[in-house]
Amino acid sequence: MTTASGCPVHGGFDPLGDAFLRDPNAHMHDVPPVFYAPALDYYVVTRYADIERVFLDPETFSAANAQLPLIALPPEVGKTLLDGGHKPQPSMVSLDPPEHGRLRKPAARAFTPRRVDAMEPRIRATTAELLDAVDASQPFDLIAALAFPLPMRIMFSFMGVPEADWPRLKEWCASRASLAWGRPTDEEALHHARQMVRYRRYLRDLVAVKAGDRGDDFASALLEIHDEDPEALTQEEIASILFSLSFAGHETTNNLIGNCVRRLLEAPERWARLVGEPSSIAGAVDEILRYDPSVPVWRRVTKRPVTLGGVDLPEGAKLFLWLAAAGRDPDVFPEPERFDPERPNSRRTLAFGRGIHFCIGSALGRMEATLALEELTRRFPALTLVEQDITFHPNISFRGPQALWVHA
Ligand code: HEM
Repeated sequence: MTTASGCPVHGGFDPLGDAFLRDPNAHMHDVPPVFYAPALDYYVVTRYADIERVFLDPETFSAANAQLPLIALPPEVGKTLLDGGHKPQPSMVSLDPPEHGRLRKPAARAFTPRRVDAMEPRIRATTAELLDAVDASQPFDLIAALAFPLPMRIMFSFMGVPEADWPRLKEWCASRASLAWGRPTDEEALHHARQMVRYRRYLRDLVAVKAGDRGDDFASALLEIHDEDPEALTQEEIASILFSLSFAGHETTNNLIGNCVRRLLEAPERWARLVGEPSSIAGAVDEILRYDPSVPVWRRVTKRPVTLGGVDLPEGAKLFLWLAAAGRDPDVFPEPERFDPERPNSRRTLAFGRGIHFCIGSALGRMEATLALEELTRRFPALTLVEQDITFHPNISFRGPQALWVHA
């Protein structure tokens, strides 16, 4: 079947269905470059070159829908969000130029390679502390022990969030993932919307408190920019930047670490190799980002009619950019099903996007995963996966094992 404009239609494509969540790769074979998925009302884009083109052309492809709810929600949910001060275009990742640059510039300052390198001792120390607390004589859940708390601690302490507030911030982030990238019931959606209002209010209050009581943290550093020129960066914009980082800075990395350990232990020779050659760990992380990315899908919407992958798209066409499929595109990655930590071009992956929105935390995320694997392979050279049914949070964009039981 095709649409009126000749676009192939894939009636059974449902990325939130159980079978898909369990094994998305099984659904990647023989898909056309672009097809329409009626279950979502999105056009799915599957080829590396087309996705790269979309990322590199913000004039034609807007980021406005990057974190809008994937499915239509009841009006009450929208009203709850708006009344609570959660604007329809809530943050950096969904803004187009020129507004995007106002937030991106000050936020990116904190993640230069030099600043990220300076975080290394803290990441190593936190990893060691978390693993010291593990009883390795018993099977343990690697996500609860390390993958979940490590990026959370690093990012929230960096931002200046008091430790007592970390658990609720994490809860709000889970609501955010379900509301924007999942398929909640109406009742669940309303619950999540109320959580989002609390989340936004919390960050605004945090900025107000920090304004009067500065610390050695990122929120305070942003407030210094505000002091110099309040128009250049408003307090509301600072809260918005914190809204971006408080989510992007750990949900992604938590899942990356989980995917790394899962994929490495799945074939024990992969783990053994890293144990013997720690210098190949960074390359293995890049290959995981190609092979099983923790952000497998990102979104755009067309601002004018355009032809993409041979399909004529109208203005307002919503695009489901299947980054995980781009990582398996044989035109760029020969023998894409083969996991190869020595692959010379793993780094060409689109797992961090491309162009003006390219992930500002890519170096940090990579480093956290690399250091976590260094410590894990050193401590647990004989680590194995426990036989288990691995489950995934039901959303399209943040993918990693919810629990991963391992034995040292
Ligand atoms: C480690 C795994 C990570 C993955 C796979 C990942 C992936 C992505 C992707 C796909 C985008 C959208 C790019 C686009 O629209 O072109 C993005 C943007 C972004 N990421 Fe990451 N990310 C990761 C880690 C992080 C970390 C650790 C941080 C925090 C420091 C972070 C902060 C951001 C921000 C703020 C943006 C929005 C940038 C903008 O709109 O200009 N990410 N990331």
